Amino acid sequence: MTDRYCVFGHPIGHSKSPAIHAAFAEQTGEAIEYTAIEAPRDDFAGAWRAFAAAGGRGANVTVPFKEAAFRLCDALSDRAKRARAVNTLIRDEAGRTRGDNTDGAGLVADLARQAVPLASARVLVLGAGGAVRGVLAPLLAAEPAGLHVANRTADKACTLAADFADLGQVSGGGFETVTGPFDLVINGTSASLGGELPPLPDDLFAPGATAYDMMYGAEPTVFLRWAEAHGARCLDGLGMLVGQAAESFFLWRGVRPDVTPVLAALRRAL
Ligand code: ATR
Repeated sequence: MTDRYCVFGHPIGHSKSPAIHAAFAEQTGEAIEYTAIEAPRDDFAGAWRAFAAAGGRGANVTVPFKEAAFRLCDALSDRAKRARAVNTLIRDEAGRTRGDNTDGAGLVADLARQAVPLASARVLVLGAGGAVRGVLAPLLAAEPAGLHVANRTADKACTLAADFADLGQVSGGGFETVTGPFDLVINGTSASLGGELPPLPDDLFAPGATAYDMMYGAEPTVFLRWAEAHGARCLDGLGMLVGQAAESFFLWRGVRPDVTPVLAALRRAL
């Protein structure tokens, strides 16, 4: 029988997840059906319960439901606890709901695939919202030399740094605390969406540095355009999207899909 999965969001119409998981299923020969479901903003738990009652085995969760998904789980992975957010739901044989978060693993896998060194790197992360909280534990697990979190609202960056201090060398502050050079700068703010750029010093990048935007689109973000003009190698978040999907697929099916052809097809379609 075909196992059923879905992605929940609101809105969800433009989600690439159904196409990604269909490609993974075809590549691996796994018999799954994967659809997109727009859950009501005020009743995510009801939408998941209904899907599970109809035989759903698991789901991805995207904006704005990752915190609601976190709250409804019977059991959580360590990285989901750290993220305080769940992007992957798994219904086990006993009917219990387990929650995980594969966003950070997807980012780290994408960096590895693109040969961006993390171990011993000087890393700057811009932003301190849910997207950044979701990736800090896997980034720190790769043992960078140091990781500085800078945010428009300095307090939020300091709180994040304190929350993750037991996992590695992490500091936080406002944008004025950013002093380069860095080997890797990751933009996790939503500023790019509005075409805005955080104030950054011109000497931000070390020679050979990489700039990574967790956002993606047909055109480079404002942050990546700035980074390119300042000499960095530029990568967008499409590989992270496919990477987190591959990690979720592995959690559900125990099979690791090859992201490269799926990513290439998505890139062509942007
Ligand atoms: P997400 O889930 O995408 O992380 P969020 O939790 O609302 O969304 O966080 C948005 C992040 O983008 C925050 O770090 C926010 O900075 P503040 O904490 O100061 O609000 C950042 N951000 C949004 N617009 C920005 C802008 N124009 N300039 C700088 N940072 C911005």
